[in-house]
Amino acid sequence: MLGEKDIGKKLAGEQAANEVQDGMKVGLGSGSTVYWMVKRLGERVQQGLKVEGIPSSNQTEQWAKEFGVPLTDFSQVDYLDVTIDGADEVDENLNLIKGGGGALFREKVIAEAAKKFVIIVDQSKVVTQLGAYPLPVEVLPFGWEMAAKSIEALGCAWKLRRRNNEIFVTDNGNYILDCDFGMIPNPEELHKQLKMIVGVVETGLFANMADKVIIGGQETTKTIEA
Ligand code: A5P
Repeated sequence: MLGEKDIGKKLAGEQAANEVQDGMKVGLGSGSTVYWMVKRLGERVQQGLKVEGIPSSNQTEQWAKEFGVPLTDFSQVDYLDVTIDGADEVDENLNLIKGGGGALFREKVIAEAAKKFVIIVDQSKVVTQLGAYPLPVEVLPFGWEMAAKSIEALGCAWKLRRRNNEIFVTDNGNYILDCDFGMIPNPEELHKQLKMIVGVVETGLFANMADKVIIGGQETTKTIEA
């Protein structure tokens, strides 16, 4: 049986998949909410929908193959019609923290490539101001300690992400620093400051990028447009 959060994730994910139209190129985000979107998209493909997707992680690629969503890549397409992805936090201005699953770099590439960027979340992800969720920052392994010192100097406490006692390695072969900045009043500014640091590949701050957020509740969804 699905828990409260999972019911919201499923509703939001399925609604986003139902809105995809024939012929669209679709950016496929990552995470447990995206799982429901890819699954539903696969069902629609079996019913005759023609779409092609670009996945943002090895996990999403695997789900797309499992559910029968045809895939393509950036050597074949110049843009995406829509990218649908989850988030770890969404604020009132539709700024996001992403990267809880470690796929933030590829997620940002498919978000940038899309004409429309749609976020799917359960109600628990919606906040007034970003920052309760530690900000994931992807860094190159070589000299990551130097990048960490510079990030710390911006006013955060960081932790090198680990999984099963091993350093967590992204699909791009990089590391993730989970950075607790406290509340983040100006996400765009912080993102720019972090990107200036040598060794920082990308940040999990997605400021002024989302066009639409679908929030899944227990029985219905609510949509916010930018
Ligand atoms: C993956 O790196 C993240 O950006 C996910 O989109 C985010 O963590 C949301 O994941 P869930 O849908 O699993 O909560």
